[in-house]
Amino acid sequence: MAKSRVVASLDIGSSKIRTVVGTLDEESPMPNVIGVGLAPSTGLRKGAVIDVEETINSISASLEDAERMAGEPINNVFLGIGGNHIESMNSKGVIAVAQAEDEISEDDVDRVLEAAQAVTIPSNRRILRIIPKTFTVDEQKGIKYPVGMTGIRLEVEAHIITGLVPTIKNIEKCVLQAGVDINDIIPNNLAAAEAVLSKRQKELGVVVIDIGCGGTSVSVFEDGTVLHTAIIPVGGENVTNDVAIGLRTSIDTAEKIKIEYGSCMPDEVGERETIDLSLMSKIDTHTVSKKQMCQIVEARYQEIFMLVKDELAKIHRDGMLPAGVILTGGATKIAGATDLARETLNLPVQIGFPQNYDGVVDKIDDPSYATAIGLLIWGSKFDGKPYGSKSMNLKKSVGSMKKWFKGLVP
Ligand SMILES: Nc1ncnc2c1ncn2[C@@H]1O[C@H](COP(=O)(O)OP(=O)(O)OP(=O)(O)O)[C@@H](O)[C@H]1O
Ligand SMILES: [Mg+2]
Repeated sequence: MAKSRVVASLDIGSSKIRTVVGTLDEESPMPNVIGVGLAPSTGLRKGAVIDVEETINSISASLEDAERMAGEPINNVFLGIGGNHIESMNSKGVIAVAQAEDEISEDDVDRVLEAAQAVTIPSNRRILRIIPKTFTVDEQKGIKYPVGMTGIRLEVEAHIITGLVPTIKNIEKCVLQAGVDINDIIPNNLAAAEAVLSKRQKELGVVVIDIGCGGTSVSVFEDGTVLHTAIIPVGGENVTNDVAIGLRTSIDTAEKIKIEYGSCMPDEVGERETIDLSLMSKIDTHTVSKKQMCQIVEARYQEIFMLVKDELAKIHRDGMLPAGVILTGGATKIAGATDLARETLNLPVQIGFPQNYDGVVDKIDDPSYATAIGLLIWGSKFDGKPYGSKSMNLKKSVGSMKKWFKGLVP
């Protein structure tokens, strides 16, 4: 019988901490999900720790929840990092191939990726990922994976994702204190894409928009690899805050009515429809207009999609991605989000339900689990040797990226 090992992922969001546990069989390419854990995230804001103890407690609660369901202890996790401190840039690297008459080797690819990292990055930032976009061997451009080809000069165009060192360190510290080691750190926006995109969508051109609590992440794929990533610092909590301010309610009540009655289509709500707040709150006892609430909601979602449109315009892909838009993250569950995104972005839009895993856990058939499942899928492509977060260096980031990149190549 094939040997199976346990893998786990941890998505530390600003509103929820999600853990997913799966088993990996040597013969199956997909993880088999056996447990899920969910806990409210009370110690973070916009992806950064603001209360260490609360964060540790939330992580522990999420891990324990997943362990109970899986019946397996979790010793290490693939950790997702998101938030407004994440930035990305493009870079180029060029090297002379080591043995010109011979084939380009994996070592050459490593060297050229390292050369692409020789860019000025502020000392308080750390490279989380370097993603090869395309290689050029001598004069031949557009090569996806050059190993095995013959050439003298190897060039790479790469996408680099960085995060703030103190922010990452604080998250690492909380995870380690919660009692698990870290296998690898993966930017959340890349992880979500792993769970919701097919190879064909990545080839054709597609954008994944993850609207979470603290922000929105945008990841554009084309020709099978990453073309652009960006973080927009506006998310579901901004919608809730707008509702609270606009209708003079508490934040808790605003969150409840947004989730229960919110919609991005105020035109479909009658002028006279009202919500009696006393039915759901002891503090707020007045009655508010449902249409007005939905107008507030629509305005903020419209702003988010306009900001995504600006990101697409920066890379000349506004309205130009054949496989369209895939929406993930909890805030995309609001009624009318797909319609508003379609109108604003002028592209086909779908909700991204996680795929590419086995197992029957109903809870995760939900766009807010895309990141956690994507992290697990990423983990399933990793070689299984936990290397500890404390010493994670660039070389390792290149190594596991290379493995992921090879997974993309047909
Ligand atoms: N049914 C729903 N309708 C509208 N909004 C929703 C719904 N369910 C969840 N949300 C919103 O989604 C947001 C949480 O999404 P998600 O769980 O993806 O965030 P997170 O991963 O914790 O945060 P982040 O990714 O920003 O760190 C909250 O702002 C919440 O109000
Ligand atoms: Mg999230």
